[in-house]
Amino acid sequence: MCGIVAYLGERQAYPILMKGLKRLEYRGYDSAGVAILDGEMLLYKVKGKVAELVASIGKKKTSGTVGMAHTRWATHGEPNEINAHPHYSPTHNLAIIHNGIIENYVALKKELLKRGYIFQSETDTEVLIHLIEDIKLNERVDLVNAVQIALKQVIGAYAIVVISKDDPDILVAARKSSPLVIGIGKKEFFVASDAAPIIEHTSDVVYLNDEEIAIIQKNKPLKIKTISDIERTPYIEKLELNLSKIEKSGFEHFMLKEIFEQPHSIRDSMRGRLKINEGIVALGGILDYEQKLINARRILIVACGTSWHAGLVGEYLIEELARIPVEVEYASEFRYRKPVINEEDVVIAISQSGETADTLAAIELAKSKGATIIGICNVVGSSIARATHAGSYTHAGPEIGVASTKAFTAQVTILVMLALRLAYKRGTLPMSQFYQLLNELDGIPEKVEKTLLLNDKIKKLAEIFKDSTNALYLGRGYNFPVALEGALKLKEISYIHAEGYPAAEMKHGPIALIDENMPVVVLATNKTIYDKVVTNIQEVKARKGIIIAIVNEGDKTIGEMADYSIEVPETEEIFTPLISTIPLQLFSYHMAVLRGCNVDQPRNLAKSVTVE
Ligand code: G6P
Repeated sequence: MCGIVAYLGERQAYPILMKGLKRLEYRGYDSAGVAILDGEMLLYKVKGKVAELVASIGKKKTSGTVGMAHTRWATHGEPNEINAHPHYSPTHNLAIIHNGIIENYVALKKELLKRGYIFQSETDTEVLIHLIEDIKLNERVDLVNAVQIALKQVIGAYAIVVISKDDPDILVAARKSSPLVIGIGKKEFFVASDAAPIIEHTSDVVYLNDEEIAIIQKNKPLKIKTISDIERTPYIEKLELNLSKIEKSGFEHFMLKEIFEQPHSIRDSMRGRLKINEGIVALGGILDYEQKLINARRILIVACGTSWHAGLVGEYLIEELARIPVEVEYASEFRYRKPVINEEDVVIAISQSGETADTLAAIELAKSKGATIIGICNVVGSSIARATHAGSYTHAGPEIGVASTKAFTAQVTILVMLALRLAYKRGTLPMSQFYQLLNELDGIPEKVEKTLLLNDKIKKLAEIFKDSTNALYLGRGYNFPVALEGALKLKEISYIHAEGYPAAEMKHGPIALIDENMPVVVLATNKTIYDKVVTNIQEVKARKGIIIAIVNEGDKTIGEMADYSIEVPETEEIFTPLISTIPLQLFSYHMAVLRGCNVDQPRNLAKSVTVE
């Protein structure tokens, strides 16, 4: 949420910053801005996307080898040019970019107003830069000290970069609860919200920890201190990302590319974990804490958005296979509702980005009560990955499209393997069934590949339904979370109101919405409650609803009952979410494209929600 990029070195900063900002645009895109030092401070900002910033700057002066840029997802103050970052200090000597929320900004602002300061914007960020300058001038301290003193007064989350016209050879960066990574090149440094803008320049990076400040200077090694002035030795890590992974590779949108990557991303999630020849499944990253899971009194899964839907699949899987009680919680509710947690509980936190503020806070709460925390994250080195006791990376590769696709199937794949492992260890599954499930799991990437061949058919379906204003998604059992996820995908990127419901619950409300204009997507690949799903379809048909059914290959019964049907490869019931979610992703994608929506950057959304 909000993208930050900064550069200090010997090259022109502007092109590096703009390219970097483009790579961060998935984090927010309602306004953008840049500041560059070149004797003077050049500062430009616009309401809108990075392309609009570049267009508005045009041929204006952009020279300079030190600078920073920002793409915003508004929290305080509407998206407009004034509220866009960077923000000036009162004398215009300093400027700041910020990701996060200064929670006590109202109190700080009141103090500063009393002292006669005037604010241009409605943002919490402007308050912080005023405070930094106030300290710098009144306490006669240098920039680094002023930032340290100011941040000690701040409650909330921040990733910031500050530059100064008077100190043109220094960048000061700091973080707390919002990510920040520093790239170290030859005689140059990069600062960014994540590795995407850095990877093409260097693979040597340092991840800042909470309350650390990076002091980045020309021709000097990187220095890191805490806000309490304790020196820290920078720990340089190697990035394992490659550039092709963050480019569209010929696809029209990142989302489509990521949907089509799923046979590979699911395989990558299983690599080294599912050893089919040895009849073993094991998640190396959690082996040290496996016993805790095996003996858990209960497992709590905390997550947000699509990751929460994967968590629901996890509940079904772990309870059915390993017979451990599971509860799935929205992280934002869990952290504030005074939950009962104790040392025998294991909390599984699921997050693609590893930066979601509510999930991070839920982890801290559970940790403080003595629970063991296991992470399922996609982004290596992310805050959640570092805050957990142990975990499994999903290894889905960078997900850039705001609507999550391959991260979901990768999360489900990890949960499938975890449930199977726990079942094996707890002896809750007959071995013959265990081996049969391992074999079936091994074949899932091929079945996903086959499902993707339905793309053209689904596009045609989208052409029929592109003008719908509502849609209902129904599923039972393992297909219930898929119905929720399908509805979320449609809402997110095509702005069509959609609801996901357990098929049988429809009678308790949503059935009132059904008429001849209501498309009802029914996930009907379940074997165990097939007849019940047939009944639910009849209930919709009796009210003239239009049925789009996702069925197993060769299913003539529902196939003939439905107005439209999509046949997907059949699999074991516990793996159905890995298959049945694919046509729904494609359907939302084509609906959104046909409606002229910006698929990769839907309005009001951000990929990584680092605010509460
Ligand atoms: C945002 C994204 C969703 C994502 C959710 C949770 O809302 O747009 O795609 O599912 O955050 O994010 P996480 O990174 O924790 O999985």
